Amino acid sequence: MVQLFDPQRRPPVFSKVPKHIAVVMDGNGRWANARGLTRTEGHKAGEAALLEVIAGAIEAGVTHVTAYAFSTENWKRSPDEVRFLMGYNKEVLRRRRDLLDSWGVRIRWAGRRPKLWPTVINELLEAEKRTRSNSRLTLTMAVNYGGRQEILDAVNRMADEVSAGKLKPGSITEKTMQRFLYVPELPDVDLFLRSSGEMRTSNFLLWQSSYAEMMFLPTLWPDFTRETIWEAIDSFANRDRRFGQATDAPLN
Ligand code: FPP
Repeated sequence: MVQLFDPQRRPPVFSKVPKHIAVVMDGNGRWANARGLTRTEGHKAGEAALLEVIAGAIEAGVTHVTAYAFSTENWKRSPDEVRFLMGYNKEVLRRRRDLLDSWGVRIRWAGRRPKLWPTVINELLEAEKRTRSNSRLTLTMAVNYGGRQEILDAVNRMADEVSAGKLKPGSITEKTMQRFLYVPELPDVDLFLRSSGEMRTSNFLLWQSSYAEMMFLPTLWPDFTRETIWEAIDSFANRDRRFGQATDAPLN
């Protein structure tokens, strides 16, 4: 049972806390194979890691976590694994939404409808509805999500508005773009975290991560705990974020 505000495990004091952390939950398959288990057992172990990370994020004062649960490229996996991941997404949402609700978590969905199982869409919409008045932390589940696809979907919707005369051509700004993203209220990603040592963004939150601090940890996703996220936040706090500005370092 994952407990929020476990008195035995307190976060350190951070000098700076990211508002929005994006997590690529990678390494479930390798974690399972190293134990002689099936890949699906690895995904099952990943569920507890996600809850730990959400609890650790809340305790640290993070307000947004976006988790890559299923990408638009994941359809290329074996039919068995795709079926498992679809069913599991649905099951986890149903099984965990009340716990997350009791933690004050607002659940959102970012992703495309086509191809996604209607039962998964229904579960995502139901979780969004039940938790919509929560504000402690927003957990966005990226399901059937691709960064390029999100940008393309936004561009196509903007083109529709232009042809309907609702949007002026030549007047599109970053702010306009933001309005057409899957979850317009999502702030930019401050910390982009990927487990399992792979150093790729894999089409995750391309627009939102333009100035994110990138962090690639060797830990496999099922081994992630709230302490792992606290260590990542601590190391984020020591990064020098300049957003394109330059400062002279004193010569010694
Ligand atoms: C990547 O690991 C993980 C996924 C494609 C799925 C993420 C799903 C979970 C963490 C399970 C928790 C469930 C929900 C609904 C949040 P991988 O399979 O690519 O691992 P590998 O690189 O070791 O093969």
